[in-house]
Amino acid sequence: MELRALIFDLDGVITDTAEYHYRSWQRLADEEGMRFSREINERLRGVSRRASLQIMLDENGRAATEEQVTEWMERKNNYYVASLDEITPADLLPGAVAFIQELRAAGVKTALGSASRNAQSVIDRLAVAHLLDVIADGFSVERPKPEPDLFLWAADKLGVAPANCAVVEDAAAGIDAALAAGMWAVGLGPQERVGHAHVRFDSLEGVTLAAVLAGLENAAWTVAEAVFDPANQLHKETIFTVGNGAFCARGSLEEGYPGDMPACFVHRVWDDMPINFTELANLPRWTGVDVWIDGERLRLDRGQVSAYRRQLDLRSGVLSRSFHWQPGEDGPVVALHFERCTSLADPHTALVRTQVQVLQGAAEVRLRTGVDDHVENTGLLHWRRIDQSQSEDVVWLHERTRATDHDLVVAAAVTAAADAPVTAAFSDADGQPAVERRARLAAGQSLTLDKFVAIVPDLDADDPVAAAQSKAQAAAAAGYAALCAANDAAWTSVWQDMDVVIEGDIEAQLAMRFNIFQLVIAAPRWTERASIGAKTLSGFGYRHHVFWDTEIFILPMFAYAQPELARNMLMYRYHNLPGARQKAAGNGYEGAQFPWESAADGTEVTPTWVTHFADPTKLVRIWTGDIEIHITADVAYGVMQYWHVTGDDAWMRDHGAEIVLDGASFFASAAQLEEDGRYHYRNVIGPDEYHDRIDDNTFTNAMAKWHLETALEVLAWLERQHPDKHGQLAAALDLSPERLAHWLQVIDAMAILQDPETGLIEQFAGYFDLEDVDIAVLRDPGRTKSMQALLDIEGCAETQNLKQPDVLMLQYLLPNRFTAEQVRVNYDYYDPRTDHEHGSSLGPSISAIMACRVGDAEGAYQHFMRAARADLRDVRHNASDGIHAASAGGLWQAAVLGFGGLQLHDDGSWTMQSQLPHHWTRLAFKFYARGQLQTVDIRP
Ligand code: BGC
Ligand code: BGC
Repeated sequence: MELRALIFDLDGVITDTAEYHYRSWQRLADEEGMRFSREINERLRGVSRRASLQIMLDENGRAATEEQVTEWMERKNNYYVASLDEITPADLLPGAVAFIQELRAAGVKTALGSASRNAQSVIDRLAVAHLLDVIADGFSVERPKPEPDLFLWAADKLGVAPANCAVVEDAAAGIDAALAAGMWAVGLGPQERVGHAHVRFDSLEGVTLAAVLAGLENAAWTVAEAVFDPANQLHKETIFTVGNGAFCARGSLEEGYPGDMPACFVHRVWDDMPINFTELANLPRWTGVDVWIDGERLRLDRGQVSAYRRQLDLRSGVLSRSFHWQPGEDGPVVALHFERCTSLADPHTALVRTQVQVLQGAAEVRLRTGVDDHVENTGLLHWRRIDQSQSEDVVWLHERTRATDHDLVVAAAVTAAADAPVTAAFSDADGQPAVERRARLAAGQSLTLDKFVAIVPDLDADDPVAAAQSKAQAAAAAGYAALCAANDAAWTSVWQDMDVVIEGDIEAQLAMRFNIFQLVIAAPRWTERASIGAKTLSGFGYRHHVFWDTEIFILPMFAYAQPELARNMLMYRYHNLPGARQKAAGNGYEGAQFPWESAADGTEVTPTWVTHFADPTKLVRIWTGDIEIHITADVAYGVMQYWHVTGDDAWMRDHGAEIVLDGASFFASAAQLEEDGRYHYRNVIGPDEYHDRIDDNTFTNAMAKWHLETALEVLAWLERQHPDKHGQLAAALDLSPERLAHWLQVIDAMAILQDPETGLIEQFAGYFDLEDVDIAVLRDPGRTKSMQALLDIEGCAETQNLKQPDVLMLQYLLPNRFTAEQVRVNYDYYDPRTDHEHGSSLGPSISAIMACRVGDAEGAYQHFMRAARADLRDVRHNASDGIHAASAGGLWQAAVLGFGGLQLHDDGSWTMQSQLPHHWTRLAFKFYARGQLQTVDIRP
């Protein structure tokens, strides 16, 4: 991070003219017979003169004419200006000058960014004008904070890019303005007021450049929440999901909150459900901690909450939350701190720390925690209790899934430390074994409860009860610090390979790391029998089913940066070949047809009927599981991509080849030869699902053709390099010469709807005859629904609106098959017809890459940020269902393969054709090419 300038607000930062303002308002109030006080004055901080007057009027239940308002504002200002004569350097706030001097000595530029029209005279009276390179004041720009204009003006005058500026502010509106300007925000004051800044100090006293830099560096790795808002708690639960590649837990509050949706899912523990066939069973809850202070049960909507902050540290995967709580008006005040960590160093271990410190008064503190099987999957129950056990130190639950008979044990061991004697107890309610710790604490004293959780499915142990119990106890013996250290070390090594550094764009940097993090925690680290679902393990959306999202959108990042995880995900497909063969046979085809939605064993689990999104009395037939056949080519594409990047020949020989070859058999047998002498796939769905049951989807046909060609190449490679394996597979998969000859015919005569003159591709037969899009509606910035929701399913299908790019996706995947001109023609046609805003979340990252390829820099960045914000800003209002995994993986591709322009060639060498967004000053990342770590650092 490069910090080149700091912009200081005046009032409350460099000096405190609040007192002068206060006296001026008070005098006006007295003269006009209005009530005013220091409390009311506190609310005027950072507020414009007019708005301040309004607050005062409202307080007094008074109305005023515009004339009066103008006159009163003027009068107050005159009093204020007159009082400024009294300002002297003694009014400088402690620490301000020393800090500014340190900055200047370090070569950092400084500016004033104050909304006041009197700023210059105040600065002069304070005798600090010589310490500021630029003065931005009430005359500089029109729009006040929270608009970013003033700070952008100052940055421009300083000649420093916004992302290299930090703003020092004491007002909430000023922090908002800094964030809107794309600058770093340094807040001065309480958490309530400036908690949304990147870093916060009480005042500038003692603040150093090093402290600010450390705070900002921290912020570039931290997703933070400054206010708990029940209205978006489900969204926040999703983005605060933590996990370790074996299981993930949503970020629900330890003490619970009405309407919350706590959940934890472990890979492979599927159970049956109606409609969607199967889903991962929500585990018995281990994240809960009940807290009583003097008998009052903690909840965020009760008592007084202050100094609230929740944060996810992406470097270590630790989720924490701190706040002060006062249960009753005259009661004690306590500081609470919760921490949750799923160990990346161990597939079965998680930690929960709870700390209570009494700040004021004395309090009886009672903490209760355990495991709880009163859980549901949005109303469905998956567990039968087998047994439970409790003691003062360890509790466990032994459960079995209702339909699939998976046994699972969740155990928890607890240790406590306090500054006062602690009483231990346990409770044995059915399905909720728990331990309890109580202490009577005086002011300053604290109680810490550490919980060591072990989650052991029978898939991992013969005796999961014994295993979970001993694991939890061993963890408790090792201690919280040791386990955290092991987790930290595991994360450090992940980030060493996987970090993508973006400089010049604060929001993009954090979003990049957040999205990588969410995929790493969901990626199967300890099994090759699981993969990443469309919503990861962070919610109930799509019931954890695995789609093409995995191979096309997510896998590339892992293939380049953590190839072992990519291999696990592909092995999942390999192990599921029997399911795919069953599907092909069931449809009367040969070979292996992968399911559109895949779960435990690779049989098709796409629902066939679901309720209509707008009218719950209607059912909608879902055709994807029947006819979205491109998934089989997508899986093969993933295999080839992994092989290309890693050069893992042994894996290709033993596993990858079989996936590719048997998938090819499917495509050859499913292609229909018709009277025109061409092969067709009729009645299919392409990536753009606004149009279903269509013929000759070019994406599908071209990918099938690519798949068949690729299979022949793989076969030739096997024959050359591994003749034994070649013979074996040819026999097992019945790859007779006749069959291969048929493949060649299909390849040669595949119907591809591309205009030979212009290069324009028709997405499917008849697409160009559809009604064109209504650009005014499609590009209306106020639109909040998808085009399908607006026009209804049939209505939308009759238009050229696209849910996601379909032709462009094909051109992305097979770049060598299209000229630059062909890409441009199709981009110009299809990009404007795509529902980028509310169509599929898969679209934007790919659109960003294609925009790069045609040199549409502005479009590329817009698309990129749409993907970057998908979950952090909940742009589609459905992040509560879980992380948009494909968007997350696509974001990595857009950065590295799009802006970075990385190309890995067949001989293993690589080149970059980078074109960074104009304000990015650096893009750096690492990847493995054929097993060798490569480092890229682009500074335009
Ligand atoms: C998209 C599919 C995607 C699925 C799961 C759908 O809305 O159209 O392309 O595979 O979501 O993310
Ligand atoms: C998606 C399909 C999916 C279906 C059922 C739709 O919203 O677009 O890809 O198969 O839901 O889960």
